[in-house]
Amino acid sequence: MRRIAVVTSGGDAPGMNTALNAIYQMGRDLRVEVVGVQGGYEGLAEGDFVSLDPHELRENMNRGGTILGSSRFEAFLDEEIQLRAVKNLVEADLEGLIVIGGNGSQRGSLAIHGHGFPVVGVASTVDNDLFGSDICIGVDTALNTIIDSLDRISTTADSHHRAFLVEVMGRQYGYLALMSGIASGAEVIVTPEFELEPAEVARELSLAHEQGKRYALAVVTDGAKNSVEKIAAYITEHPDEFDFELRVTILGHVQRGGSPTVFDRYLATRLGSASVQALMDGKQGVLVAWKNYDVVYVPLREVTSSRKELNMFLWRLAMMLSK
Ligand code: F6P
Repeated sequence: MRRIAVVTSGGDAPGMNTALNAIYQMGRDLRVEVVGVQGGYEGLAEGDFVSLDPHELRENMNRGGTILGSSRFEAFLDEEIQLRAVKNLVEADLEGLIVIGGNGSQRGSLAIHGHGFPVVGVASTVDNDLFGSDICIGVDTALNTIIDSLDRISTTADSHHRAFLVEVMGRQYGYLALMSGIASGAEVIVTPEFELEPAEVARELSLAHEQGKRYALAVVTDGAKNSVEKIAAYITEHPDEFDFELRVTILGHVQRGGSPTVFDRYLATRLGSASVQALMDGKQGVLVAWKNYDVVYVPLREVTSSRKELNMFLWRLAMMLSK
């Protein structure tokens, strides 16, 4: 291969720029020209290719976000749009594609692979829900941001003797809630895998009050059925069951921002550089992922058709530790 493209797709993640820089540098080393796609799959469908500037990459490699831009582009599910994207790649004299992104993006990678175009994915999503990868680009940074926020919330909660419901990202995978809940000593963790009814959450938080704790925290995944809104509504409707004053914080997109941590920079460098090597070695239709502290290549078909399980032992441990 002499010329390949790279696209950042779906929700951005801190470390995407580090990966872009590693891909470009690895390409240079292997004498492959690396071209960028602007604006995620939407840009790919429009043939929005751009040449990469090594100085811009170097200057931004440790900044959050993605200098290529990204998009949520549901239309890419349409086969006609996928074929248009492949046509654009071929007409631009491109011979391979690297897709940096999460679950939805890797479904797109599989589709492109199915149309006969060489593609590899790079595991990147703060949700950490990609099957086959222990951890993905952006997760460590998001977790550190969440922990910093929970530490800050704890001090004001302590001063005012309040309970807080804190919503974190993750969609249908409760990894961020579980890990941040453990690391912050939260009293309750609610995830799509381990749903607790609002009454149970209220009881757990009240138990903390009875035990003489000065404040209590519940961490809730944004994709949980029993959302922070539902739990808060229950507590407001049942004031007799609840002794703390309640506050709700939705951490939101602050979790996807900021400079990547040391680990995310390392991970993005390893996965990014390995993705170029993979294409050169003729590996196609695989996700470049991280398992047991090393790079692995997982078939995209397996990645997109399997569900990552949240560790029930860790959830039980967290609930036990907070008692
Ligand atoms: O998939 C990453 C993620 O940050 C989820 O955790 C969150 O639910 C969602 O994206 C938010 O999407 P958007 O940035 O499109 O609002």
